[in-house]
Amino acid sequence: MSTLLDIRDLTVRIDLADGPVFPVRGVSLALGPGETLGLVGESGCGKTLTCLSVMGLFGRRVAIDDGEIGFQGARLDPASRADRSRRARGMGMIFQNPMTGLNPVRTLGWQVAEAYQIRTGSKRRAANARAVELLDLVGIPEPRRRARDFPHQISGGQQQRAMIAMAIAGAPSLLVADEPTTALDVTVQAQILDLLSRLQREIGMGMLFVTHDLGLVAEVADRVAVMYAGRVVELASAADLFARPRHPYTRGLLDSLPFLDDDVERLSPILGTVPSLRAMPAGCAFAPRCPHASTTCGRVAPELTSLEGGAVACHHPLAVRTEAA
Ligand SMILES: Nc1ncnc2c1ncn2[C@@H]1O[C@H](COP(=O)(O)OP(=O)(O)OP(=O)(O)O)[C@@H](O)[C@H]1O
Ligand SMILES: [Mg+2]
Repeated sequence: MSTLLDIRDLTVRIDLADGPVFPVRGVSLALGPGETLGLVGESGCGKTLTCLSVMGLFGRRVAIDDGEIGFQGARLDPASRADRSRRARGMGMIFQNPMTGLNPVRTLGWQVAEAYQIRTGSKRRAANARAVELLDLVGIPEPRRRARDFPHQISGGQQQRAMIAMAIAGAPSLLVADEPTTALDVTVQAQILDLLSRLQREIGMGMLFVTHDLGLVAEVADRVAVMYAGRVVELASAADLFARPRHPYTRGLLDSLPFLDDDVERLSPILGTVPSLRAMPAGCAFAPRCPHASTTCGRVAPELTSLEGGAVACHHPLAVRTEAA
């Protein structure tokens, strides 16, 4: 598999008034053309910052502290203008909050057309026509009329769809989708997911798909990376991850879901809370909540290590559960 996106040892630093924190710590992920990599984990574990690192979109105070990002075989230099336009042409992002992705003082049609022009180099007139088609494609009613609206004139669900239209305009090679369908009702969600998988088939678009929804990730992802407190703790094919999670955190996430086992009589939430950025444990960040933690876990952070087709960062990976267990 050739690599479309190659994130190596990514560490993100935020400079706060009382010193730096590191919400993403040594994340490595790779994604091939046409592949969907799911990224899951509790709120605050660093999913969005990982996405923003890929896109090269940081505000003040936030920066890549270490590591590198490769795109289509070449390393991206955050300071390079040429690389910024390489990203703009080849990558699209669906933001978790639609208003982050939309410009409040431009019409929807203008914004979608702009994204289309940047990726395809087409003329404005053709881009405007395509923008209306794209708004239609993502399920915005009366797209010709809506194209003249500003973001504040449409509903939150429509904003999300307009942003999806922008993200896929001109068919980027990589789509970074940060909770792309959370604001949408289920029927629209299904339409959007269909649309995305069609684009994947047609143009081989790779997708980094962030979601809280493990049910959704099981449906859309080929492989899944589970993050905890800024690190990838498990990486596996979607089928393997759900059938035989190897990290106690992954197991905990699955056990806290109601739908996976018909015969499960109770749900077991993961006890405790995620450590704060200021108080990361020296060893495994999950150790304070882990039923299997040993003294080693408290002292030494486990490396992500290959294990039977996947990878797990755990000193005591779970044994595969047999049918009888
Ligand atoms: N600009 C910022 N300033 C300060 N802290 C930040 C900033 N951006 C992110 N953080 C912190 O970094 C951590 C990781 O944030 P991130 O947004 O990547 O989490 P996430 O996994 O996307 O969570 P969610 O599921 O809630 O979207 C969190 O603790 C968050 O509060
Ligand atoms: Mg997020």
